[in-house]
Amino acid sequence: MLYRAANPNDLGALVALGLASYGRLKNNLTPENWKKMESVLTSDQTLPVLVSSCHSFVCEENSRLIGMAFLVPSGNPTKIYSEDTSYIRMVGVHPDADGMGIAQALTKLCIDKAKETGEKTIMLHSADIMYAARHIYEKAGFKKARLLDEHYGLAYWLYQLDLG
Ligand SMILES: CC(C)(COP(=O)(O)OP(=O)(O)OC[C@H]1O[C@@H](n2cnc3c(N)ncnc32)[C@H](O)[C@@H]1OP(=O)(O)O)[C@@H](O)C(=O)NCCC(=O)NCCS
Repeated sequence: MLYRAANPNDLGALVALGLASYGRLKNNLTPENWKKMESVLTSDQTLPVLVSSCHSFVCEENSRLIGMAFLVPSGNPTKIYSEDTSYIRMVGVHPDADGMGIAQALTKLCIDKAKETGEKTIMLHSADIMYAARHIYEKAGFKKARLLDEHYGLAYWLYQLDLG
């Protein structure tokens, strides 16, 4: 398995990987909310923007992308994140590669990059039902900061890791 940065040539494979990995959640969502999630995963404003403006990490096996994660540097505030924090987005691993430690390796790459680039904190949000993901983040030292407003009909936790 090879871990590397993503590039624009990966976009088609990354969208497919997003749909396959987050597709695990489909049965927990209403059809309307899955449609919303699907449209975010396939939007020009999601993976293309992450690939072009963030630290990206993908896991490749036999020329096939099976994992991805993105570290958004501080200075990119959103409704959830303030100006002064970095945050992790779109951690996804293909169901074929479940439980092989790929998401943990990708999360570590994000944390290492944040430390290397002088970030003070890393934040992320994760749905209550994303049990494996929340286990990974808590094992890596992330602490629950607060509960966010519902999204896609799901409860979401905001997590924070202080690097100081
Ligand atoms: C979450 C996801 C990225 C995990 O990928 P993965 O490569 O299979 O994860 P890893 O193999 O690195 O680690 C899985 C860990 O979760 C644990 N785990 C698995 N299912 C679990 C569950 N239901 N409850 C708690 N922990 C669980 C495993 O035991 C393992 O931890 P361990 O090494 O301490 O034993 C993948 O399932 C996915 O893409 N899910 C859908 C998208 C998603 O939820 N993304 C996160 C967005 S915040």
